[in-house]
Amino acid sequence: MPRLKTNEVVSREQAAPMTAVTEIFDLVRSDLARVEEEIGRQSVSSVEAITEIGRYLQVGGGKRLRPALLLLASKLCGYEGPAAIRLGAVVELLHTATLIHDDIIDEAELRRGRPSTNSRWGNHMSVLAGDWLYMQAFTIALAERNFKILDVLIGLTQVMVEGELLQLTRLRQIDLSEDDYLELCYRKTACLFAACTRLGAVLGRQSEEVELKLASFGANLGLAFQLVDDLLDFTSSEEKLGKPTASDLREGKITLPLIYLLPRSLPEERKKIAKVLEEGGFHSVSLEEIQQMIQRYDTLTTVRDKAREFIKLALGSLGHVGDSPYQDALQAIAEFILERQH
Ligand code: IPE
Ligand code: IPE
Ligand code: MG
Ligand code: MG
Repeated sequence: MPRLKTNEVVSREQAAPMTAVTEIFDLVRSDLARVEEEIGRQSVSSVEAITEIGRYLQVGGGKRLRPALLLLASKLCGYEGPAAIRLGAVVELLHTATLIHDDIIDEAELRRGRPSTNSRWGNHMSVLAGDWLYMQAFTIALAERNFKILDVLIGLTQVMVEGELLQLTRLRQIDLSEDDYLELCYRKTACLFAACTRLGAVLGRQSEEVELKLASFGANLGLAFQLVDDLLDFTSSEEKLGKPTASDLREGKITLPLIYLLPRSLPEERKKIAKVLEEGGFHSVSLEEIQQMIQRYDTLTTVRDKAREFIKLALGSLGHVGDSPYQDALQAIAEFILERQH
């Protein structure tokens, strides 16, 4: 997936199938550059270590998908102005804070192709830097003096934190149901996507109906995004993703490729998956054995089909808000989430 950064040259190889994506980002390129400036300005604390961690994460990259969605949704809803830039920075800072905390919880060593904050600064500093970034995001949002915006952002943050907590209670549960899994995906990922697109409608002073349409678009997009992320965890490489692969199962998380596999599998195959969960890694059972099973039952195709269903739902909820390149751009992002390879 090409990074959605302002200063990045997309390689020929990436550009060919993704022409639509580069066009989308042309639409918001200058605004994304302003979001980047805002993040830089807002990540400064009187405590040096916090500023250092903030900068480290910012220059580490990231696709900037969430601010791009917020900007496109606000433009689609007829808003042009500085509040979209500020809220773009807010959603990216919230996302960054959740990644810092997530990496501490998951004991992940790599993020965005570099050592994670926890492996570089340790858990204690990282958890506090994450807290600081959450509060900084709310400080920026508060300046809008708009209760609706605060309602959306505070509600969303609670849902996300509850999601991470809920996930902890579900760790190593081999019988996690598809519904439970989807609830975790909604909480961890989709509700932030929904907030981004919804805030676009709030800025554009749209009706409650349009707001909810855009929120539903974002939520379904986010569900597809997390399904693809969980699929890539089995199929992609650390080099491409910039984060460890085959990590979900190692971390004790049963994701959709396995939820679809388990009912089709033989008792001895099920035992192997249980063993990995129990041992917290690929010790007596190798990753290759698990990957072969996934291939044999072809569950990745089923997961991809499910992600496609969410994309269809997303496009259905978006409907036709207005004739504009922004409508096309949001539709193209939906297609591109399905196709992303990293
Ligand atoms: C990572 O999100 C967390 C998930 C929801 C899977 P992204 O893949 O958007 O992370 P960055 O911001 O591009 O690094
Ligand atoms: C994803 O959880 C989302 C967050 C909200 C942090 P994961 O644990 O699956 O995310 P990655 O794979 O570490 O990015
Ligand atoms: Mg993680
Ligand atoms: Mg993951």
